[in-house]
Amino acid sequence: MSDFYTAWLERSKNNQKTVDEAPRVARSKDLKWVRTPQDYKAALMIAPELGFPTGGSCLMRAEIPVGWHTGRHLHGEEAIYVESGEGFIILDDKRYDFFPGTIFHIPYRSPHQLFNTGSVPVGYLSGLAWHLEADVYMGKMEQLEECGENDPKILAQFPKEESQDWPEDGRRISMHQKQFEKSDESKHGATYFLMGRSGKQNGFKATGVAISSIFVDLPHTKSHSHAHPEAYLYALEGDGYSEIGGKRYDWNQGDAVHVPPGMLHHQHFNPYDRDMKELRFEFGIRYWLVDQWKGYTTVDKHLKATTHMVD
Ligand SMILES: [Fe+2]
Ligand SMILES: [Fe+2]
Repeated sequence: MSDFYTAWLERSKNNQKTVDEAPRVARSKDLKWVRTPQDYKAALMIAPELGFPTGGSCLMRAEIPVGWHTGRHLHGEEAIYVESGEGFIILDDKRYDFFPGTIFHIPYRSPHQLFNTGSVPVGYLSGLAWHLEADVYMGKMEQLEECGENDPKILAQFPKEESQDWPEDGRRISMHQKQFEKSDESKHGATYFLMGRSGKQNGFKATGVAISSIFVDLPHTKSHSHAHPEAYLYALEGDGYSEIGGKRYDWNQGDAVHVPPGMLHHQHFNPYDRDMKELRFEFGIRYWLVDQWKGYTTVDKHLKATTHMVD
């Protein structure tokens, strides 16, 4: 390379190529489960380590066995979705209970630890902006305790849940499935707002990572076609496919779809006989870019409501 600037031009071209050729679907059947100091069982789904060109974000899936707890740690912001099982999280020194479908917002650098107090394993999804934080030297991660088996004496010492809000500034920490807010928006069969777009709805104050919403797409329908910076979809129920940048990607329940940071047009299809339900993760870096570059505003091409496939 003759000079630093020529290298930048080259890198820009290579970035585009990387995004064009990258995987778009993280398959639940292909997950590589490992034990970490934090989790008895964890697997990356969408992450730079797996070749996904993310905006410094990642999606991880983890399991807490019956009678176990995760490690206790602190790091940047985190968004958690509990897929199965029940228990509670201790965040700072407060307790917040969880059930299947509960979401959590973990504030930046708040120590936290999850306990499984039920009779089935706890399965949870975690969205983080760890890679971004680490690359800008702001991602300090500290392990305060490792994962292990629950001690009934210690479990009994924890306080009862007092509130779903954070005493520090009143922001919301948890939301249960029965509290999800159904919107009258008509881009999908149904939309439930959780932390909302930009993470500031329903009392939440998420900045780095948010679980924005749940979409339900009815049998034999498709979403509108649109373009925007990065988002993740996790298939909670049903199967379908997405067209991203003109290519088709089929996926099944338990898979996650990566809409990459570029402005790739995309659309989601449910060609089958049952509902498909997707959990959407969104990362704050998106708005940092949207604010600067007009080209990064969301483009809605066909804003019409969910249309039937035969239309
Ligand atoms: Fe965490
Ligand atoms: Fe989208």
